[in-house]
Amino acid sequence: MHFFAYKNGELYAEDVPVMEIIKEFGTPIYIYSYGTLIRHIRAYEEAFCEVPHIICYAVKANSNIAILNLFAQLGLGADIVSGGELFRALKAGIKPYKIVFAGVGKSEDEIEYALKNDILMFNVESEAELNKINEIAKKVRKKAHVALRVNPDIDPKTHKYIATGLKTSKFGIPIEKALEYYKIAKSMENIEVIGIHKHIGSQITDTKAYVEALSKIISLYDKLAKFDLKIDYINIGGGLGITYRDEEPPDPKDLANALIPLLKNKKGKIIIEPGRSIVGNAGILVTKILYNKETENKNFLIVDAGMNDLIRPTLYGSYHEIQPVIPKDRDKILADIVGPICESGDFLAKEREIEKLSPGEYLAVMSAGAYGFAMSSNYNSRPRAAEVLVKGDRYVLIRRRETYKDLIRNEIIPEEIL
Ligand code: LLP
Repeated sequence: MHFFAYKNGELYAEDVPVMEIIKEFGTPIYIYSYGTLIRHIRAYEEAFCEVPHIICYAVKANSNIAILNLFAQLGLGADIVSGGELFRALKAGIKPYKIVFAGVGKSEDEIEYALKNDILMFNVESEAELNKINEIAKKVRKKAHVALRVNPDIDPKTHKYIATGLKTSKFGIPIEKALEYYKIAKSMENIEVIGIHKHIGSQITDTKAYVEALSKIISLYDKLAKFDLKIDYINIGGGLGITYRDEEPPDPKDLANALIPLLKNKKGKIIIEPGRSIVGNAGILVTKILYNKETENKNFLIVDAGMNDLIRPTLYGSYHEIQPVIPKDRDKILADIVGPICESGDFLAKEREIEKLSPGEYLAVMSAGAYGFAMSSNYNSRPRAAEVLVKGDRYVLIRRRETYKDLIRNEIIPEEIL
């Protein structure tokens, strides 16, 4: 069942006509489906039910606190990469003892903040970071729980910007160095080694790379046991792809079926860090057509959402389905669907076959729930979009549209030096 579907000739979000939401809150707007979120979480819970596990949702994919709060209620943990994400996760009610903290550049303040809140563990990405965490833990009189993020040097066959487990990538500790670093970590006074972590990339559409990477991690895990390094948690990262166009990614059950044979009989508890596969297809971005523009070479549909609202097409050349909110069965044209930003790279789609719509009509950009709003900005001084959550025939605003005042909220015209 698809929660964004046409009924009576118009697009619905669950049981609410998208038009009704637009009339109330305007565009551009992100609309999320509660039913889809729940379905995806259940799929993960059921898939991994055979093994003790924690789902640590990757907050970076969509960090709206209403969504985080829903996940907190469902008992999920969080995978965070900054102090800001920790703040959000805690505010939303996610339990600190289910929070894991990754990222190559944790600052001293962020480390201290996490230690004071007793998070489950840091996923440590370098020896220098290990030293820093040890030092800060000593200062605040805590024992920092850590996993080492191991880089298994596996190609996940995805866009090069979102592959993270290759030798050349900045992430993790090279697998051949891992044992040495584990020994160093074990000798540190304020560090307690409890886990092993890997994450090889995002939008992965095949289980093969997962199996290869996990096999390498498991042989390391077995080796660690021989050196009396007890590992309580095996973190397999996130990265499962979704369907944007015609991809056929494995679902959580396929992933579990591929990985559980490697994990069974291991004492460690499993941590999974999905982001996109939970929120990606649970959200759409709705935008209004402002103008049609025909040049000698091209048709342009100029819409009111730009690369500041959804940067994925610009940044990665990503494909998102784009559908009329009210289709009218007209002739199709080939058009570039572009935003109002003053950059040629500001597009949502290139050379897209689409109905010849008129100004004032609306388009839905599909699969926009992950890395959509979360990567949006105020570029060109555009207030960021509103966000709405739909559940059945009800909906609520979960983020007000920004105002012009919001844009300058933290800016200061100095009285001196000018
Ligand atoms: N764990 C770690 C350590 C990560 O770095 C990431 C994503 C995840 C989990 C979640 O991965 P997911 O399940 O969402 O694939 N902005 C890009 C994606 C960047 C992903 C970064 N790391 C995009 O729009 O495609």
